[in-house]
Amino acid sequence: MSVERVGVVGSGIMGSGITEVVAKAGFEVVLRSRAQETADATVAKLEKSLARQVEKGKLDEAERDATLDRIRAVSDLGELAECDLVIESVVEDLAVKKKLFDDLDRVCYDGAILATNTSTLPVVALAMETARPDRVCGIHFFNPAPMMTLVEIVRAITTSDEAVAAARAFVEQCGKSPVDAKDQAGFIVNALLFPYLNNAVRMLDTEVATRDDIDTAMKSGCNFPMGPFELLDLVGLDTSLSVIESLYEESKDSHYAPARLLRRMVAAERLGRKTGRGFYDYSKK
Ligand SMILES: NC(=O)c1ccc[n+]([C@@H]2O[C@H](COP(=O)([O-])OP(=O)(O)OC[C@H]3O[C@@H](n4cnc5c(N)ncnc54)[C@H](O)[C@@H]3O)[C@@H](O)[C@H]2O)c1
Repeated sequence: MSVERVGVVGSGIMGSGITEVVAKAGFEVVLRSRAQETADATVAKLEKSLARQVEKGKLDEAERDATLDRIRAVSDLGELAECDLVIESVVEDLAVKKKLFDDLDRVCYDGAILATNTSTLPVVALAMETARPDRVCGIHFFNPAPMMTLVEIVRAITTSDEAVAAARAFVEQCGKSPVDAKDQAGFIVNALLFPYLNNAVRMLDTEVATRDDIDTAMKSGCNFPMGPFELLDLVGLDTSLSVIESLYEESKDSHYAPARLLRRMVAAERLGRKTGRGFYDYSKK
């Protein structure tokens, strides 16, 4: 199970970041979005970001050109047929991901590994949509993928040792640090992080303190690089709500019940940086 060609499905915050990481590491990447214009726009954005890295002296021109040459933007899922590894990074919705794994299983060659970048959803549920549950695992990158070094490798009860070893080798080739996690809602990081973020929203909603004071307190008091509301806006409030709902769904522990204000924010389409407004307003920045 050696990986040379990698497919990335989904061109949102994470799909585009993963594409950059994987292409920079020297793999051929097929980036698939549902619309060709979105796939092309993602590559155009990446081109701009790489140009800025060249200007700052963080990347040389030859590396930039080689990275871009390795990326092919497509809309047809069939273009992933020859990929050795496909990393799915579409919306955090189990029904959408299940359908995608069913489609990927039909499109991708038998030996290919199918991985999900899900933050919390059960990997085994996706594995069982395929005829290769031994070759399905989680490869969970962190946001922003080009900066964050951690990747959680999630082993479903069906995942083979060979698939885990191949995923680990791939992650190391990407220059990232893998850790192993059981297929349990939230894996390691999100199981610890999201109850904290959810409690911060409850604290704001019950007027214990202001948004700014809570963010300041956690940065200055705990030395966290970002406050909870800055982090929620970076992650995306819709994705955050889905993560918390999954933790609650699995545990049925009321401690994990999503904060009411978080639901209201998502209903109002204040999803964070990606929509220009979340707990903070980014439209004027
Ligand atoms: N945002 C984070 O901080 C973060 C970190 C790690 C993992 N993740 C996970 O990565 C995945 C993607 O999250 P994101 O933050 O990039 O979200 P995003 O909202 O930025 O992008 C979602 C992508 O899914 C696509 N999509 C939406 N509905 C779809 C459908 N019905 N069929 C196919 N594609 C569809 C969108 O077009 C978009 O490309 C999720 O599973 C999320 O849990 C997110």
